[in-house]
Amino acid sequence: MSASASNSNKERVFIFDTTLRDGEQSPGATMTLEEKLQVADALDEMGVDIIEAGFPIASVGDFEAVVAVAKHVKRARVAGLARAISADIDRAGEAVRHAQQGRIHTFVSTSPIHLAHQMKKTEDEVIEIIARTVAQARNLIDDVEWSAMDATRTPIEFLKRCVETAIKAGATTINLPDTVGYAVPEEHFRMFKTIIESVPGADKAIFSVHCHDDLGMAVANSLAGVAGGARQIECTINGLGERAGNAALEEVVMALRTRGDAMPFYTDVETTHLSRASKIVSAASNFPVQYNKAIVGKNAFAHESGIHQDGMLKNAETYEIMTPASVGIKETTLVMGKHSGRAAFKDKLKELGYELGDNAFQEAFVRFKDLADRKKHVYDADIIALVDDEVGSV
Ligand code: KIV
Ligand code: ZN
Repeated sequence: MSASASNSNKERVFIFDTTLRDGEQSPGATMTLEEKLQVADALDEMGVDIIEAGFPIASVGDFEAVVAVAKHVKRARVAGLARAISADIDRAGEAVRHAQQGRIHTFVSTSPIHLAHQMKKTEDEVIEIIARTVAQARNLIDDVEWSAMDATRTPIEFLKRCVETAIKAGATTINLPDTVGYAVPEEHFRMFKTIIESVPGADKAIFSVHCHDDLGMAVANSLAGVAGGARQIECTINGLGERAGNAALEEVVMALRTRGDAMPFYTDVETTHLSRASKIVSAASNFPVQYNKAIVGKNAFAHESGIHQDGMLKNAETYEIMTPASVGIKETTLVMGKHSGRAAFKDKLKELGYELGDNAFQEAFVRFKDLADRKKHVYDADIIALVDDEVGSV
């Protein structure tokens, strides 16, 4: 099915990947320039809309990486992050001007706890900072994203003032991050809906959701933000990111694709690239992917229980809601273990080139179960050995 045919009744959601910026902020996930270019290539080929390549003021290395990604990437927009500080914004502008399409992403904290303890600023001072810094960025480039750091712990009336100020100063994208992973989906939905419906000029900007996973709700909150009117999702491959990480790109994209019936939205991501991108990011960041990670984990399309394996052999839709091929995984695996049943064992024997008579099969199955009870992993070689033994002893 072509994307346009299947997506004709759906609204587009832009995918903003921040693996190279928020993802790299994961302690221990630092990537070399070569690795960043490899990740950027994978993201660009996969069809993400915006690649946040780094934080240019953070270091000379980060600046050079953003410049290199900006020069290298062929299709996606390239964003550079900047605090609400004049020197940061100039530096980000200098880095992203090398891109075919660049974006300055500037942010300031808006929550009372950040204002009191981190920034030591009043609300009025923050409003002045937003107006000045967004206008500065907009003088450098047409595409400016403004983020309200810790938006989800910001009183809604003040958040409205901030958003209105940023839009008036020229921000084209408004991001309302759940910086500390504090939101719950219903509340997140309401925050977006209220802001989008009540802030004058909101229709001039694209709203963006950026969720952290401290309570394990980053993906659910991202989707709730979209239901509330956001049309850009900020996410990372494998959910890499500060502390518990960011919303995982592969999860939001596959949720929208698989449940288009419940959520009428689509992205331009070519989902068959997801598994490869996950492997590239895992290698570059030196962060292994957990076995049971949704979409890209080693076990995401593996089945061990006899009931599930039997169902899978009859019709894959019994226990799989998406095909492994749709995310770039070659095939489903039926793992041979103590929970496996006769159907899967017979299938495995066939795959290994054996066709046993009823008695021999029964004997082999009993021996297999006995082995599986003693051994964590039953490999093909184990099965070959036990069948050859069995056949040899007849
Ligand atoms: O989590 C956050 O608030 C951020 C901002 C810099 C957008 O990463
Ligand atoms: Zn973040």
